[in-house]
Amino acid sequence: MAGIVISGVSRTFGAVRAVDNASLEVGEGEFFTLLGPSGCGKTTLLRMIAGFTELNGGEIRFGSERIDRLPAHVRDIGMVFQNYAVFPNLTVAGNVAYGLRARKVATAEIERRVEEALALVQLTGYGTRWPHQLSGGQLQRVAIARALVIRPRVLLFDEPLSNLDARLRVSMRTEIRDLQKSLGITAIYVTHDQEEAMSVSDRIALMNAGRLEQVGVPVDIYRHPVSRFAAEFMGTTNLVPARMVGRAGDQFVSLRPEALHLASDAPQDWPVLSGTLAHVELLGPIMRLDVKLSDGTVLKAAMLDAPDRSLQAGATISLAYDPARLTVLP
Ligand SMILES: Nc1ncnc2c1ncn2[C@@H]1O[C@H](COP(=O)(O)OP(=O)(O)OP(=O)(O)O)[C@@H](O)[C@H]1O
Ligand SMILES: [Mg+2]
Repeated sequence: MAGIVISGVSRTFGAVRAVDNASLEVGEGEFFTLLGPSGCGKTTLLRMIAGFTELNGGEIRFGSERIDRLPAHVRDIGMVFQNYAVFPNLTVAGNVAYGLRARKVATAEIERRVEEALALVQLTGYGTRWPHQLSGGQLQRVAIARALVIRPRVLLFDEPLSNLDARLRVSMRTEIRDLQKSLGITAIYVTHDQEEAMSVSDRIALMNAGRLEQVGVPVDIYRHPVSRFAAEFMGTTNLVPARMVGRAGDQFVSLRPEALHLASDAPQDWPVLSGTLAHVELLGPIMRLDVKLSDGTVLKAAMLDAPDRSLQAGATISLAYDPARLTVLP
């Protein structure tokens, strides 16, 4: 049983509350992501789970076992870092074997398990190579094999793909997710990339200044953000001030760009907004529009490219939106 229970965990550095009273439960075999901007406390929380950073308060359990006072090396954790942390003076096999040697596993058993781990990350035959002979993606696979070879109860990833180019990031994130699911190991994955988080995670904890802003399955956070911060961090959105019937003061509503359509393509009963097309951007399959309304508000709209449509900046344009996709923020 290797679900993870984090209860009221805090850590301060001087005046900075890096992690502030965080409580979470990660299910056994779950792929769970800590998402948030730089400095929000993702690495600090991950390092407390790993045993590299002490807690100021709260507790962490793996299943029913309290682990936050155990030294890192007995927590049964595999960790993969952003900068690979592969030892340059050891071969690929030497790197992968490292954790097994430290655990005094017998030599024949080490050889077998290193082969097995290299096969899992598609590096069969690379054992005798040196790290400087590998690409960034291969180095990151060595780091993953090194984390897997000890058969950890929990896998921790701290921005493992941020040193790779955009294409490799996309293919490696799927590889990591598939491997984690096939092995059934509980994983906590840190990223500041919302799209990466949405593509791999069973659930996401969105963090903001040391606190957990919202925890949920990706699509729920995207469609039903609980705050302006969550609405804006989980993708582009239009935040529009609105006065609600029966409520005092202004509130904000969030309307995602893809909820806006050209009025001519939209159902008759959708509300229509007219304005001037301020900017058009074609990003391959998606076209992004900035539309300036008469009161000066600029709305962002996004739609699939259609070759028969020609939209020029400066033109008058009517957009309609799906009223069901307005989210009122508290
Ligand atoms: N060892 C430390 N000493 C002092 N302050 C620290 C230390 N580690 C982290 N902090 C501070 O705690 C806060 C959270 O840092 P943390 O590294 O957890 O953020 P992060 O979400 O991982 O950010 P990034 O996306 O940039 O990696 C930051 O304000 C950081 O400066
Ligand atoms: Mg970090």
